[in-house]
Order: sequence, then C-alpha cells, then structure tokens
Amino acid sequence: MVSNLKGKHFITEDNWTKQELDTVFETAFDLKKKFALEEPTRHLVDKTLFMIFFEQSTRTRNSMEAGMTQLGGHAHDLTADKMQISHGEAPKDTAIILSRMGHGIAVRNCFYGIGLKYLEEMARNSKRPIMSLQDDVYHPFQGLADLMTIFEHRGRNTKKLKVTVSWAYADTHSKPLSVPQTQILLFPRYGIDVTVANPPEFPLSSNIIEKAKLNAEKGGGSLKFTNNMDEAFEGADIVIPKNWGGFGHYGVDHYLANEAECKAEMKSNLSKYKSWICDDRRIKLASKDVKLMHALPADRGNEVTDEILDNPDISIVFDEAENRLHTAKAIMSLTM
Ligand code: CP
Repeated sequence: MVSNLKGKHFITEDNWTKQELDTVFETAFDLKKKFALEEPTRHLVDKTLFMIFFEQSTRTRNSMEAGMTQLGGHAHDLTADKMQISHGEAPKDTAIILSRMGHGIAVRNCFYGIGLKYLEEMARNSKRPIMSLQDDVYHPFQGLADLMTIFEHRGRNTKKLKVTVSWAYADTHSKPLSVPQTQILLFPRYGIDVTVANPPEFPLSSNIIEKAKLNAEKGGGSLKFTNNMDEAFEGADIVIPKNWGGFGHYGVDHYLANEAECKAEMKSNLSKYKSWICDDRRIKLASKDVKLMHALPADRGNEVTDEILDNPDISIVFDEAENRLHTAKAIMSLTM
C-alpha cells in the first residue's frame, strides 16, 4: 500500500507505478464493499472538486459528482461555456485560481491535438491534483474501472488472460481513441495478452502502440494486431467491441490541417465496415465463458447486438459502469 499519493495528478496510468495502481484497486474494492454495506466513507469532508466538461457525459460526470457527495465533499459541475474559458481564459490561469479555491480539478477535453496538452498545462500550474475525465489520448478513469471489473470476474491473477479490443461499426458519433489506447497501455502491465483488431483505415496512434509494446515487455503481457475481427475473437476470454474514429490513418497534424476532407473520407471508409459487429456468431468464436465489456454508451445494433449486450451470462457492461463510481472515489480519496 502506497500512502503518499496526495496531490498526484491522474492523467494517465502510465505515470503511476504498479504499486500505486494496486493501492488504488485495494481502495476501490474497500469503498465498493462499504457502499454495499451503507457504511460511511467520509474521506473528503468539506473538500471541493471542480469538474470542467467540454463534452457530454453520463458515467463520468455522475460517478465523480456522486462520489464526492458520498466522500463528504462537493463537486462543482462546470462546462466551458459557464466559465471565462469561453472568452479565452488560459488553462494555466484557470488552474492557478481553482487550485487556490478547492482541492482538485477534473477536466474532460477530447479535442484532437488539444485535450491532453490542456490538462498537462493545468498540471504544471495547479497546487492540487489534476484529473483527466477523458482527453484526446487517454481515459484513465475508464481504464481503472475496466481492470477492476476484469479482476472481479476473472480473479486478480490475470496472467495469460486473453482480452480482445476490437474496433466496431457505429453511426452515432465518431468515438474517441482514448478508451482503447488506455486499455492497451494498462492491461499488458498486468500480464494480459491483448489482441487489437481494426480496419486498416482506423488505427490507434503509433506512439501509443510503441509505448504499449514496452509496457507489455515489462509487464509480462503481450500485444498483437490484426485487421480481422473474427480472428481476434477466436479463443478470447473477454471481448471489448467498440467504435473509434480519431484521425484515422492520416496522423493528427494532417487531419487537423485538412479536417473537412479527412472527415468525408473517414465517413466513406466507415460505411465499408458495417459487418464489424459483436453478434452471436462472433461470440461463439470466443472462449465458452467469454465476457463482453464496453465503456458505454453502446451503439446497440451496430457495435453489438441487443441479444449479446443484454445477456447476463455474457455481458458485464453494467458492472463495468458501476465500477466507475468506486474507482473514481478511490482516486479522489487518495489524491485530494
Ligand atoms: N464511458 C464514459 O466515459 O461514459 P460517459 O461519456 O457517459 O462519461
């Protein structure tokens, strides 16, 4: 158990040691047990968290706000348009000011080429912990909840567990890269064998893939890639079919400089892959007690069929969503 995490920023698990992360998981399991027993866990009495959302959220917003209430503190639910951010106030100034008034700052900013930089600028200038509620590169709270859910359903020894992170078709919106990127960085540190499947036009970022390979070497897990969804499902213990759009295969700089043209091409590429769905046929390719995970919101009927998502023997997506609360409370209790 590590006991000196007060003030530590939580932007990516990659900046946290395995021992520090294990402390987070121990704390999250303890908080989950106490939540079930309705025992008080007032670790943050009279403390304030400022949450700034540049985008919509259901799980993240409510796990953080409910979590702060349950810990005895208060969360301000802010959006950029409520603040002078909308008139161009710098992240540095926002961070200095809010960190003098409260005990933690949490931000969701998923704009490509901007979000992570915004959070890092705040972290350089805040006296209090800065937490990413999802940015253009990472979704660290989602990664924690995912791994906690894997521990609950597969045990703490995850060595050689086969987890498939697969691109899937969706037409709701172009989903960020941050969830699969966080998963491929984190899971192999716990000995997990990760297979990533995606159409060639929808890769993850190459710098993250390189980091994830290093994490796998050090952590005893493995990482492999395929352009074939069926192949990725074969023998998998856990499947995570989820759409991501990102900046496609263009690279972020080219994408941002030619956004309209790239978006049009990506839309046309997307329509080629409607068959990339997690359905009964594909689930049968996986191990016989395979589990389905998804960060949610799911695009039902596109990413995954209702039949699979609503099957209680297969789907653990609502445990995964609930664990956003317990892991959020663990990070806030330890760092604020
Ligand atoms: N999984 C997740 O981050 O959900 P929200 O976008 O609803 O917060």
